[in-house]
Amino acid sequence: MVEISISYLYNSWCEIFEKAGISNFKNEVLWLIQKYIDISISDIHLLNSYNISEGTHSNILNSLKKRSERYPLQYILETQPFYTRDYFVGEGVLIPRSDTECICEKGIEFINKHKYNSFVDICSGTGCIGITLEKETQISRCLAIENSLLAYKYLEKNKKFHNCDIKLKLIDIFSKSFAEDIDQKFDLIVSNPPYLTKEDMENLQPEVLYEPRDALFGETNGLSFYHRIVSISKKILNKNGMILFEIGLGQSKDVIKILENACFLNIGFIQDDSNITRGVYGFK
Ligand SMILES: C[S@@+](CC[C@H](N)C(=O)[O-])C[C@H]1O[C@@H](n2cnc3c(N)ncnc32)[C@H](O)[C@@H]1O
Repeated sequence: MVEISISYLYNSWCEIFEKAGISNFKNEVLWLIQKYIDISISDIHLLNSYNISEGTHSNILNSLKKRSERYPLQYILETQPFYTRDYFVGEGVLIPRSDTECICEKGIEFINKHKYNSFVDICSGTGCIGITLEKETQISRCLAIENSLLAYKYLEKNKKFHNCDIKLKLIDIFSKSFAEDIDQKFDLIVSNPPYLTKEDMENLQPEVLYEPRDALFGETNGLSFYHRIVSISKKILNKNGMILFEIGLGQSKDVIKILENACFLNIGFIQDDSNITRGVYGFK
């Protein structure tokens, strides 16, 4: 056992995190300590002397050090909340963003309004979109598609954890055999694909550099996945079905154009609470 001053540990790492540019530094130090010790913030301030095992001490120090190097908090905590549920995350899978919740809200609204029976979540990652739609609606047939084996393992784990009735498929949507491999049609295609441009990739926050490049980069102009998904929709989308996309900042005109060129109707866009356009949809 080692005897430590927990208040000193907390205060000194708060200082280090603040200097490292971590804005929510007080909470983050607290959460990282609480990952290993069941202790409240008032006890941290009160207790000068605290006994913990050497293993626990080194786990806390390693985690704090990693985070001070801007390694993502969620990868250390191994979980991220999204639309009222927790998702397992770690290296190799994109951390779900709260921006994506408005896409789920719209998806739920459309599934209920049009009485859709099936959907496919393309580029599923953790499964946060597909699992949310399955859990929040009465839909009967769901599929999630992902091509990264590392991400797929998290998809499987999250599906199991949430006891979700969704089929999973490990497949590259650019593969030639895609349409034969997915031999079913769906009422809804939903996707938050990689959409960052080359320029975006050069200006990422330090934390994002630890996330998989393949989950972020949508080739030079960030639009290659939208072109591909709209093109495969000819084979896998039912008549009167719809496509619902999350998009990157400033991509709405381009993505609307892609849907118009493929003769999609009643095209619309989705704004988040800050009036930023986050999604685009259209009907076949
Ligand atoms: C922006 S992330 C979205 C993850 C998740 N849907 C979300 O909203 O958090 C894009 C995902 O697409 C996957 N992906 C990239 N290229 C792919 C491809 N060619 N075929 C299928 N999935 C792909 C990545 O591995 C990543 O998990």
